[in-house]
Amino acid sequence: SPSLSTSSSSSYNATQQRLPGAIIIGVRKGGTRALLEMLNLHPDVEVAKAEVHFFNVEEHYRRGLAWYRAQMPFTLPGQLTVEKTPGYFAAPQVPARVWDMNPAIRLLLIVRDPAERLVSDYTQVLHNRLTQHKPYQPLEELLLHKGHINQGYKALQRSLYHLHLARWLEVFPREQIHVVDGDALIRDPFPELRKAERFLDLPPRINPNNFYFNTTKGFYCLLSAGHDKCLDESKGRPHAPLSTQALKKLCQYFRKPNKRFFEMVGRSFSWC
Ligand code: A3P
Repeated sequence: SPSLSTSSSSSYNATQQRLPGAIIIGVRKGGTRALLEMLNLHPDVEVAKAEVHFFNVEEHYRRGLAWYRAQMPFTLPGQLTVEKTPGYFAAPQVPARVWDMNPAIRLLLIVRDPAERLVSDYTQVLHNRLTQHKPYQPLEELLLHKGHINQGYKALQRSLYHLHLARWLEVFPREQIHVVDGDALIRDPFPELRKAERFLDLPPRINPNNFYFNTTKGFYCLLSAGHDKCLDESKGRPHAPLSTQALKKLCQYFRKPNKRFFEMVGRSFSWC
């Protein structure tokens, strides 16, 4: 009856902001935005559109969980809230803080060839500098010092996945971290999304028709309920150039760290 439905309308309208049940923790430039948008295709998933930076920025963390929750989208009971902040992965204080919030949270880590990631990282910083009319050194100047890899270069350190993952594995069991292949997500997103659905215990709702290759963009774009969406121009930018020689050095440098990472996650990737 009308009166009944009116009196129970609050339970129909039970949308609330809830803490995330899953977090995309990184890696920076790994395809974190693409993964978030693609997960959002699922009817049982709602995502925080902006990066939250709760656990890695002191000023935010001090505001407490009420502030964090207020950054989340409204969801129905049973829907999964997901946020992505790539800065979490390499920040030492974050794993224990996430555990303190919810030791059962599911973590998604999207990785990509670390050399490619480094160049993408450099390209983003260069772009930001140029937009602010600030100069920036060429990549090779930052990357090489007297012909040797400069280990102090931030973007290089961010590509040492094993170092960062080791800190997460001191806190979380391996099963709670799902590794997404970012290179595979670029080539063919659907299989990676199906695996992510399974990890998140979601019924399989994302399907191959949700993706089409956009030849102008050069990447897959998303289709949902008649809407067509590509990621913005900051995703899939042409990379700054790097000489074959420097790239070779970089690949050599990453060989051991990559091996350590493969052992940690129990699978390997065909990186350079
Ligand atoms: P490039 O800009 O170097 O190509 P993040 O969102 O973590 O910053 O990652 C950005 C990267 O996502 C891009 O790096 C791009 O390669 C990758 N990516 C994966 N799938 C994409 C898609 N469908 N559209 C655009 N970029 C995508």
